[in-house]
Amino acid sequence: MSKNNKILIKGGRVIDPANKLDAIADILIENGKITEVGKALSAEGAKKIDAEGQIVIPGIVDMHVHLREPGREDKETVASGTRAALKGGVTSLLAMPNTLPAIDSQQNYRLLKSIIEETAQANVVIAGSITRGRLGRELTDIAQLKSSGAIAISDDGSSVESEALMLEALKQAAKENLLVIAHCEDKKLCANGVVNAGLTATRMGLRGISRESEYKRVERDIALAEQAGARLHIAHVSCAESVEIIAKAKKKGIKVTCEVTPHHFTLDESAVLGYDSNMKMNPPLRGKDDIAALRQGLANGTIDAIASDHAPHTENEKAIEFERAEFGVVGLETELAAAISELSEKKILDWPELVRKISFNPAKILGIAKGSLQAGNDADLVVVSADKEWIVDRSGLFSKSRNCAFLGKQLKGVVEYTIYAGKIAYQRG
Ligand code: DOR
Ligand code: ZN
Repeated sequence: MSKNNKILIKGGRVIDPANKLDAIADILIENGKITEVGKALSAEGAKKIDAEGQIVIPGIVDMHVHLREPGREDKETVASGTRAALKGGVTSLLAMPNTLPAIDSQQNYRLLKSIIEETAQANVVIAGSITRGRLGRELTDIAQLKSSGAIAISDDGSSVESEALMLEALKQAAKENLLVIAHCEDKKLCANGVVNAGLTATRMGLRGISRESEYKRVERDIALAEQAGARLHIAHVSCAESVEIIAKAKKKGIKVTCEVTPHHFTLDESAVLGYDSNMKMNPPLRGKDDIAALRQGLANGTIDAIASDHAPHTENEKAIEFERAEFGVVGLETELAAAISELSEKKILDWPELVRKISFNPAKILGIAKGSLQAGNDADLVVVSADKEWIVDRSGLFSKSRNCAFLGKQLKGVVEYTIYAGKIAYQRG
């Protein structure tokens, strides 16, 4: 990096909900930090970015990403995943621990950390697992994971079936002031399903995943978190009942937050009728009423965050019979555009609220100093052409995997520049 690395972003609509800012302004970046936000700024020798007619927001903080490294580098790596992130405007992300090996020890934490230090193109923070090998039998050394640097614990991909073990995990996490991220799914209520239980599953001749399997577990985990006094975050909420349960818990003052993915607030279960395995994920796409409830939850503050649940899988694992295909879709490169198209354009969230859900709130939940354009902060930001439309095309994706639920769809909102740590880390074209 040159000694005086300056960038001046001129004339964009700068949106920074943390500072109640939504105005045409310039932003000066020097040596990796935002040094000034204001009108008519000038800086000698700075690289100028003309952002007139564009929107400038804090870099997206995606709190649910599967980078697959170590172990499944054929699906994604830290390098490829963070490049995809930057293309989508994501400058910080939480790497989920369902890798091979799982991030269930200090040693494995250090292994992933060293890969990140060598190859990450964006800010990656790490979640450790709740149980060893994510097998749900024995807790990890939660205090040690925390002291190693883990920012949360999660067995994401599975739920911790044992109530006693989950309670103990929450108690230890509370003691360590560590966030617990719950994948809520009661396997006994899933019947090895592959799509939402109901008419669609019946029509397709496939086994269904009931909504109870999610919301009963949401109910359980919230009750356990309350008992333990722990901070609990519910991953990928998919159904109306979960939203309602979380709203009630929040009203009671329980420390619970939650996220929703773009595919869950956009696509309903009818999308799977063609047996397209890119519509297969866990939790599954639900009904139209669920989408309405998720959108309402975003609008009224019950749902705190938008996260991609970026879950890359290879062609071999997806281009097979629906029932045998892996669960999950990539999402880093489409989350902002999906949020603009489905939430901002449809007046569910205004721009400051959208930025809150996709950047500021997840940073706050994770406890990282990101998600705001305050002078002095790290210069992580995105310049967006909010009105530009594009069609999601598999060959345009930077991710190693192309299992995207939005392929062929027209979305609004194009990332022009992603600035990470004060440098232009992605530029369109
Ligand atoms: O669809 C999913 N894919 N849901 C999960 O919970 C895990 C994820 C994965 O790791 O592939
Ligand atoms: Zn999950």
